[in-house]
Amino acid sequence: MADSPTSISDKWWHSAAVYQVYPRSFFDGNGDSLGDLVGVQSKLPYLKKLGIDAIWLSPFYPSPQHDSGYDVADPRDVDSIYGTLSDTQSLIDASHELDIKVMVDLVPNHVSIDHPWFQAALASPPGSKERARFHFLDAGEQPPNNWVSMFGGPAWTQITEANGELGQCYLHVFDSSQPDLNWTNPDVAADWIDTLKFWLDRGVDGFRVDVAHGLAKDMTYADLPDPVGLTEALRFDLDDGSTEAAERRLLIENSGFFDRDELQEIYREWRKVLDSYPGDRMAVSEAWVPAHRAGRYVSPTSLHQIFGFDFLVVAWSASVMQETIKKAIAAVQAVGAPPTWALSNHDSPRVVTRLGGGETGLARARALAMVAHALPGSIYVYQGEELGLPDAPLADSDREDPVFFRTNGAQKGRDGARVPLPWTASSAPYGFTESESATWLPQPDHWSQLSVEAEDFDAASTLNLYRASLDQREQFRGEVRFIDSGDSEVMIFARDNGIHMAVNTGLEAYSLPEFLLEAEIMLDSEVVKILGDKTEVLPPNCARWFRVFT
Ligand code: NOJ
Repeated sequence: MADSPTSISDKWWHSAAVYQVYPRSFFDGNGDSLGDLVGVQSKLPYLKKLGIDAIWLSPFYPSPQHDSGYDVADPRDVDSIYGTLSDTQSLIDASHELDIKVMVDLVPNHVSIDHPWFQAALASPPGSKERARFHFLDAGEQPPNNWVSMFGGPAWTQITEANGELGQCYLHVFDSSQPDLNWTNPDVAADWIDTLKFWLDRGVDGFRVDVAHGLAKDMTYADLPDPVGLTEALRFDLDDGSTEAAERRLLIENSGFFDRDELQEIYREWRKVLDSYPGDRMAVSEAWVPAHRAGRYVSPTSLHQIFGFDFLVVAWSASVMQETIKKAIAAVQAVGAPPTWALSNHDSPRVVTRLGGGETGLARARALAMVAHALPGSIYVYQGEELGLPDAPLADSDREDPVFFRTNGAQKGRDGARVPLPWTASSAPYGFTESESATWLPQPDHWSQLSVEAEDFDAASTLNLYRASLDQREQFRGEVRFIDSGDSEVMIFARDNGIHMAVNTGLEAYSLPEFLLEAEIMLDSEVVKILGDKTEVLPPNCARWFRVFT
C-alpha cells in the first residue's frame, strides 16, 4: 500500500513521540546546579519507560546565554556548562542502544554576538567581507528601516566603529545579542552545510530548525506597512475566513523577513545532504506560518516536517478543535507529509496554565494530550508536560528572558515554563541537583506531589496517563473520521480497528451514544484505569479512548 500521510510508515518520524529536552532545566548530572548532557544520559531509562521514540535537545552549544543558548557562538561545539563534545557522542550512542533517536537544534537564522564571525565583523570596516556575512547597513538619525524585533523594540542596533564613532546598524530579528546572518552570502550557506555534516557524522537522526521561516530577507530592506501587526499576525491561524484574517495574511505574504520564496533553495541543498546519509535522517522546521503555507516547508526537496503549533493556542472548545484538526491535517496532506502536534514547548505557557490552571487546567491538559496522542502523525512532548507541571510563578527579579527586558516588563516572557524539573518528592530542588546553590530559576514550594517520584507511584498521575497513552497510541492507524456527537462541546473521532476518541469540553456531563456504551474503554484521562459507574457519561474536561467491536 502506498504511504498515505495518515497511515503508519517505515519512517520513524512519521509517527514518533519526540521528547523535548531543555538541557539546563532537565537534570544536573555534575552538581553545579545547572542541567547538563550527563544528566540527560542518566535519565534515559526514565524516558524509555515513558515510551518516547526520540529526544530533541534544545541548544547546548557555546553561548553567552543571552537567550538561553539560542544565541550560538559555535554550532559545532558544546558549552562547558553542559559538558563536552564527547558527552554528546556518549549520549547519542547510549540513546541509540535504547532505540531512542536523537535530534539536535540548529539555529541558522542568527548567531551570538560572541561568534567569531560577528567579532570579526565588528573589527572590520563597512563594506568588508566580514560585514557581508550579516546585514550591516548605514544608519542616519533613524534605523535603516522600520522592522521590529520579535522580542520587542527595533530590529536594528547601531555599533561603535573602530574610530570610536557611531557607525552602521546590524539587523537582529530577535535580541540584539542575536545578529541575523546574511543567507545570500556563500560563506553562510557553506558553513551551515558543514554544521549539518558535523552532527550527521556523529550519528544524530534529525534536526529541529529554529526560525526556519526566517533565513531569507528582503535585500532591499523596504519598510513594512505594519511591522507590529506582522509580529502579531504570525501567531494567528489565518484561515478563519474573516476580514481580519485576510489582512493578516497580506501582511505575512509581504513580510520582509519571514516565509520568503528564497528559502526553498536553501532547504533544497540541506535536503540533498540529509538524503546522502544512511538511515532516515530528518529535519523539522520551526516555522510560524499560517496553515496554507505549511506545505512549503515539507516536501521531498525541502524539510521533512513542520511543527504543528495549533494545540499551543487552540481554544478549549470541541468544535474549534475539530476545525483546527481538519485544517492542520489538510495543510500537510496536500504535500504528502504527516502532521505533527505539540501541546507545549519552551516558548509557550505550559498547557495546564494556558487551559485555566489548577485542577481544571490539569484535567483539560490531560484530556488534550489524549486528543493529540490519538491523532495521526508525530507528537512533541515538552519536558515536564508528562508531569502536568503548570507555569511556575516567578518574581520579576528572577526573570532572565530577553522578552521581559525588551518589552520593559510588558510581557513577562517564557521563564515560567522553563523552571528545573522536580525529580524527588522532597522540597526544592526536588532532586534536580545536588548543589546547595539556588537553581537558575526558583522552583515553587508545592511541587513535591508533581515530582517524578510521587507520580511514579500514583496510578492516576499524569505521568502514568502519559505512559499509558504513549504505549497505546502505537495501535492507532488510518484516517481520522469525525462522528457527529450531537453536542458542539463534544468531539468524537474514529480511527481504524474500531478505535474512537471522545472529548468533552463543556460544563455538563455528556451521555454517551449507544455504540460507545458497549465499547471497551482503553484509557480515560480522568481516572486512567478504573471508571466505576462513570462509564455511561463523559464528564466535563475529560477524554476517553474506546475500542468498538463490530
Ligand atoms: C525560537 C526558539 O524556540 C526561541 O526560544 C528563541 O528565542 C528564538 N527562536 C530565537 O532563536
